Amino acid sequence: MKSVHVLNGPNLNLLGTREPEVYGSVTLDGVDDMLARICAARGIVLVFRQSNREGELVDWIQEAGAAGAGVILNAGAYTHTSIALRDAISGSRAQVVEVHLSNTHAREQFRHVSHIAPVAIGTIQGFGADSYRLALEALIAKFPAA
Ligand code: DQA
Repeated sequence: MKSVHVLNGPNLNLLGTREPEVYGSVTLDGVDDMLARICAARGIVLVFRQSNREGELVDWIQEAGAAGAGVILNAGAYTHTSIALRDAISGSRAQVVEVHLSNTHAREQFRHVSHIAPVAIGTIQGFGADSYRLALEALIAKFPAA
């Protein structure tokens, strides 16, 4: 895996102060730093982005798919609502690991549906910021030479 794009959806810019009892106290910059260290050690180019806008996330998924980069996607609440993100993944053939800090299945019913899961390689959730690290390790293991 030569390049990994980590794409974060709405409200994840608030990580660290947003409901820390649910999402933990690590900021999004902290997640970026953790992944950057791992990627640097393995010679992987890391692109780390966050947007509160669905269309921007669509553009970034298409871009990653066209570049053949692996994708770690925490789509936030768009996970549960966005057919557009799902179509961007299947349409661009992006190789996506779906990630969540919290265990969405242990939360409200409306979070139990994911439009991302059926078009993702797999899903990692419930491990706080460590979900991202585990997703990165999973991508590296699946595409060692890509
Ligand atoms: C989340 C879970 C979503 O249900 C929620 O809307 C988020 C964060 C998570 O990482 O746990 O914004 O994706």
